[in-house]
Amino acid sequence: MSISLLPLTVPSRLSAGSRARPLARLAALGLGLVALTVGSTACDNQEPMRARPAPAPAPAADGDAKVVKKASRPAPSADQMQLLAKKFFAPLPARAESPNNPITAEKVSLGRTLYYDPRLSKNHDVSCNTCHLLDKYGVDGTKVSTGHKRQLGDRNAPTVYNAALHLAQFWDGREPDVEAQAKGPLINPVEMAMTDHVAVMKTIKSIPGYADMFKAAFPEDKDPLTIDNFAKAVGAFERGLMTPGPFDTFLQGDSKALSKEALRGLQLFVDAQCVTCHAGASIGGTQFQKIGNLKEYPTEDLGRFKVTNNPADTKVFKVPSLRNIAKTAPYFHDGSKATLEEAVNTMAEYQTVKGSFTDEERADLIAFLESLTGEIDQEYIKQPPLPESGPKTPKPDPN
Ligand code: HEC
Ligand code: HEC
Repeated sequence: MSISLLPLTVPSRLSAGSRARPLARLAALGLGLVALTVGSTACDNQEPMRARPAPAPAPAADGDAKVVKKASRPAPSADQMQLLAKKFFAPLPARAESPNNPITAEKVSLGRTLYYDPRLSKNHDVSCNTCHLLDKYGVDGTKVSTGHKRQLGDRNAPTVYNAALHLAQFWDGREPDVEAQAKGPLINPVEMAMTDHVAVMKTIKSIPGYADMFKAAFPEDKDPLTIDNFAKAVGAFERGLMTPGPFDTFLQGDSKALSKEALRGLQLFVDAQCVTCHAGASIGGTQFQKIGNLKEYPTEDLGRFKVTNNPADTKVFKVPSLRNIAKTAPYFHDGSKATLEEAVNTMAEYQTVKGSFTDEERADLIAFLESLTGEIDQEYIKQPPLPESGPKTPKPDPN
């Protein structure tokens, strides 16, 4: 359609077709700014960081056919974007330290071993790594996970990478930290299915090699072989599961670390107010928000209501971290969206006043999200040899 190339066509609504029209770009910009001023009620109850208007992009060079055709929104300058990004985000720390559980090499080594040990499950066939595969960015790639007796859970398994930074654990934030979280899966009947924590400790005590490892990790404890020390060891290991990537390099001053597309995506992430919910070092994980902010999201899951019993918490979930998001499909608590494109569309539709993205905007956003893919420290996650079972180690129980 030749008419779509006429410079004075103003589209009635924002659509993929607006790409080639300079006026549409202005219209989009205008709408973006209106959105910033009137649409920021989304997260008010949580005192989120507010999106600030982004610096006005430089006008495209007149008569530059390439710019008009390929990119309606010019890439913002990397230096400007660095300043903007530093207002909302921070580089990942080397480890997520906690005063309640100082990290030591001995604890980490024990925690790593326990993380991989399937004998801590009823049928000796499920470990933490079954659902949070460390060489797969900490997820299992399925809608909902499979545990004991191949039973399915009711929520998608989030990644363990960078999770220790979150304000709380699980989609509904029902546990305060990774230490408290670690005790849950052991006795969840559809996960590791142990009868209780006493049974878990009985198994651990029956494996001779663990006694020395617990002693080394908790030298001051009279009786180091406890479920709380299990949790501390696993927690200490998880506190080191950080994945810095190009975005951290960018935040630390390397203005070339992000592509042009990623820079535009970052600007859009701020303009479209994604940043009011997904911010901080883990680009999320800092607050609870309702899924279906602007439009009812179809889910049976009551979310945080199950934790607080407060009707206002219905369908409220922890805002997930977007670190490594390109690697952790499928998406959302229900694992209902198979691709990042769908997930981004869903967010636009249900969480933001913007409502939808053009193809180009979505591609830019995804380029930005891909810059959040970090590096896995292969040495850190290497599976250690497991200590051998003893004569009293319970046999696998398939029932
Ligand atoms: C059978 C699969 C399965 C096993 C085994 C399992 N998990 Fe999970 N994990 C999940 C699911 C599903 C969730 C989300 C559940 C929810 O939010 O209600 C989860 C949540 C988590 C979280 C919270 C992350 C976040 O962003 O909130 C952490 C941390 C975690 N698991 C660590 C572990 C550890 C450590 C073990 C081993 C002791 C373990 N998991 C065993 C499936 C599993
Ligand atoms: C009002 C708060 C809010 C805003 C604004 C928001 N999000 Fe989200 N986001 C959430 C919550 C809450 C979830 C988890 C929802 C669920 O699973 O039920 C989520 C989930 C996601 C997920 C899936 C994460 C995963 O691990 O499954 C992606 C991707 C995402 N958001 C991207 C974006 C983008 C891009 C924007 C801007 C267009 C945005 N979000 C705006 C709150 C928000």
